[in-house]
Amino acid sequence: LILASKVQSVSTMAKEEQNVGNVKQQLAKLFESALNATVPNEPDVEPLVAACTAKFGDYQCNNAMGLWSKIKGKQNEFKGPPAVGQAIMRNLPQSEMVESCSVAGPGFVNVVLSKNWIAKSLQKMLIDGIDTWAPRLAIKRAVVDFSSPNIAKEMHVGHLRSTIIGDTLARMLEFSHVEVLRRNHVGDWGTQFGMLIEFLFEKFPNWEDVTETAVGDLQAFYKASKQRFDSDPEFKEKAQKAVVRLQGGEERYRKAWAQICEISRNEFNRVYQCLGVHIEEKGESFYNPYIPEVLKELTSKNLVEDSQGARVIFIEGFNIPLIVVKSDGGFNYASTDLAALWYRLNEEKADWIIYVTDVGQQQHFDMVFRAAKRAGWFPAEDNTYPKASHVGFGLVLGEDGKRFRTRNTEVVRLVDLLDEAKSRSKTALIDRGKDVEWSEEELEQTAEAVGYGAVKYADLKNNRLTNYTFNFDQMLNDKGNTAVYLLYAHARICSIIRKSGKDVEELKNTGTIVLDHADERALGLHLLQFSEIVEEGCTNLLPNVLCEYLYNLSENFTRFYSNCQVVGSAEETSRLLLCEATATVMRKCFHLLGIVPVYKI
Ligand code: ARG
Repeated sequence: LILASKVQSVSTMAKEEQNVGNVKQQLAKLFESALNATVPNEPDVEPLVAACTAKFGDYQCNNAMGLWSKIKGKQNEFKGPPAVGQAIMRNLPQSEMVESCSVAGPGFVNVVLSKNWIAKSLQKMLIDGIDTWAPRLAIKRAVVDFSSPNIAKEMHVGHLRSTIIGDTLARMLEFSHVEVLRRNHVGDWGTQFGMLIEFLFEKFPNWEDVTETAVGDLQAFYKASKQRFDSDPEFKEKAQKAVVRLQGGEERYRKAWAQICEISRNEFNRVYQCLGVHIEEKGESFYNPYIPEVLKELTSKNLVEDSQGARVIFIEGFNIPLIVVKSDGGFNYASTDLAALWYRLNEEKADWIIYVTDVGQQQHFDMVFRAAKRAGWFPAEDNTYPKASHVGFGLVLGEDGKRFRTRNTEVVRLVDLLDEAKSRSKTALIDRGKDVEWSEEELEQTAEAVGYGAVKYADLKNNRLTNYTFNFDQMLNDKGNTAVYLLYAHARICSIIRKSGKDVEELKNTGTIVLDHADERALGLHLLQFSEIVEEGCTNLLPNVLCEYLYNLSENFTRFYSNCQVVGSAEETSRLLLCEATATVMRKCFHLLGIVPVYKI
């Protein structure tokens, strides 16, 4: 009952808060009144507005056909869909946004936007700031569960993908005024800790003073303890007892556990620091105390049943059940996720809970979400909140087309990977003489921005569901769809502005943008579409749409710059402002992608 009152439809809230940056939304509002005037007896027609792919206009309204099939049996004055389209066009309210309209084919209403209006909107953004273009989403608070490596085990490239994708989604949502709880759901609970703790005691009698350096590589430590566990029955028994003592809260065991977690945490933090990722740890152990109550609730709702000594939830459409209590009485990954979901809904009051893991965990999340739905934690309809979404992603492949691994070790250490990207980009900068031209600090910072940016962008530009091949040469190429190319494009625009010798801050208030040349207009329109692209990226949880937008922006700019002289032309002021608007939008894209912009090349 309490949950039910929280349920809000996406569209009702979207109407309350209009976003000035979103062209599509503003046109939809105009078409809404056109539709009301055209078919007053059909009050609930949602306007369908989309950017045009054809050359008839910039945007189109696609309601005529659907509307026709709705009204054709009933009494009406129309002969067919094109006539409905004509009427919608006639009823479109006067607006400074619109230059002209036409009806095409079976009733599409095409809109050509006014170039003066586009220019004015850009200018307003330059003065008021790009945050005025932030999308307005229908939710207040989201949990993004990402990165989430396992203590003492390797943090592999899958975790890198989760970290990069999750961070970008969080950034896009934060930009869109959503409060985001960035959650690191680390695997810090489970039976492996018995073995790790006993091994720690054995190897380091003075374990309380042991630091990272003494343990060395925690992965190697894990492997060694596993070997001991598998080969020595006496050790194995001790380890199994240790789990019970740990979970029973015995002081010495809790302390050793915390120590191991801390060592891992330091390792993870190095990666987060390189990547500029902020994340808050609430590991599996945190939810452990909530599990019994949550299972009690699910049991009382008749969801949980006995099966071969275990307690399970059967879910329609799946041939295996979700195990929530193992046959030895212990809890598992699924019981933890159910408790975490309960906590996020009821304690953290999240409207949208987003999980970023490889697609291999899709079924697990499908089942957890379905169980939650059966328990009444989520509304029955799909497009209402609260809601949970699994953001799956594909594999990172090596040159051999197999799962990415280095030659000698089995897994790629993420810190090494990032270090290499940085050092390669540094070498490229030195080859171009930048070590002479720049200070050591500038060189270092640029190498970092370019190197880390390249790794992130190479990941984010793909549709997340597809596998991609990790290739340093490709991602660090300064041509093609890479971060390097884009960062350089941005730096070049900054240098055009610098070299003009003009004060753009002053021009923003004194100058006027004019979009007479076709390439100026195309660039202006593309800039104006930033907001709806971010909104689309948020709604569909797809960072690649933002990458595609950014790449196209850069191409639009190149076309403009090769066909329109900027410095020294009669249109210099307007064109400098267009350069500034492009640089501003590019920087916001970089920011949302977690890439640090560079200003010099
Ligand atoms: N630790 C898990 C892994 O490495 C990912 C956890 C994802 N989040 C969750 N709530 N299950 O695969």
